[in-house]
Amino acid sequence: MTATTATPPITRVLTGITTSGTPHLGNYIGAMRPSITTSKLPDVDSSYFLADYHALIKTPAPQRVRQSTLEIAAAWLACGLDPERTTFYRQSDIPEIPELAWLLSCVTSKGSLNRAHAYKSAVDRNTLTEHDPDAGITAGLFMYPVLMAADILLFHANSIPVGLDQIQHVEMARKIAMRFNTIYTVDYFTPPSAAVNPLAQTLPGLDGRKMSKSYDNTIALFAPANQLKKQIASIVTNSLPPGEPKDTHNSTVFTLYQAFASAEETTAMRAAFADGIGWGDAKQKLLELISSELEPYRERYQDFITHPNIVHTALQDGATKARKIASSTMRELREIVGIGESLSRQYVGK
Ligand code: TRP
Repeated sequence: MTATTATPPITRVLTGITTSGTPHLGNYIGAMRPSITTSKLPDVDSSYFLADYHALIKTPAPQRVRQSTLEIAAAWLACGLDPERTTFYRQSDIPEIPELAWLLSCVTSKGSLNRAHAYKSAVDRNTLTEHDPDAGITAGLFMYPVLMAADILLFHANSIPVGLDQIQHVEMARKIAMRFNTIYTVDYFTPPSAAVNPLAQTLPGLDGRKMSKSYDNTIALFAPANQLKKQIASIVTNSLPPGEPKDTHNSTVFTLYQAFASAEETTAMRAAFADGIGWGDAKQKLLELISSELEPYRERYQDFITHPNIVHTALQDGATKARKIASSTMRELREIVGIGESLSRQYVGK
């Protein structure tokens, strides 16, 4: 008898990072660090991309989008993303993405887009302030989930690491995939699932709310050392003096510390809180811990920022790799929907 060794199925992991700001600690803990770890796993085929078309929805500021694209790409590469192992590219370098977005928009019900969080909350805000429901809302914001579905489905990705706020969008991509398959009676798209890492959720910012550009409470990933020190010093705490035991729950200093610490370091800090460590000392330890993790990457980051051509070349190579898949997917899809090269043949499956 011959033994057959089943090859484990490949997990196709894909996620996008909107290029509308400077990378901060929340991006690092929530997305970059876990994604880089995932990219090194066997049986994982990972694609990470800079969602610059998505950035245009939020940020009609060309210089900011350009700068953010460079900074975010430089940060990923500096922190150890290996572009040989991962497909790392810029969304706008893949013309098949907006092309697919159009095909998908033709099978997406408008009603489902009405219910998408980002659009719905914009409408709710307008209603509350007694404006026209659609005042100031672009068609780009409305179509955001379709563009995101195209990002995912073009590459047959099945595992999408996202934050809680993006789960609905991945669900929509899943529904769009299934609806397309039903309408065209094909088994073409792989319905994707969100992969939410509960540990990577909601790193608090300076004021204790979720670290986010929109709250202006972020700590930049590669701020100069003195600025990092200043920012950590400004983290909001209660006013308990040194010597008074402190609660680790709801403590921003503790939560940030834990995100960077080993299990032993966390245990030691928990004990220090119970022993009444002063806020100044706790912040000093936090600063040292963050610096020691990021220090090895800082110089490479600066190097990439001052040599954007290196980053550009890496992204171009990534786009070439991605477009191999993208162009063949689109060729098949064009046949499926009847706009392909052949006017006589029908698509007969993969
Ligand atoms: N919309 C996502 C965000 O703002 C970024 C994104 C764009 C994305 N396209 C994607 C994430 C595809 C996962 C898959 O966070």
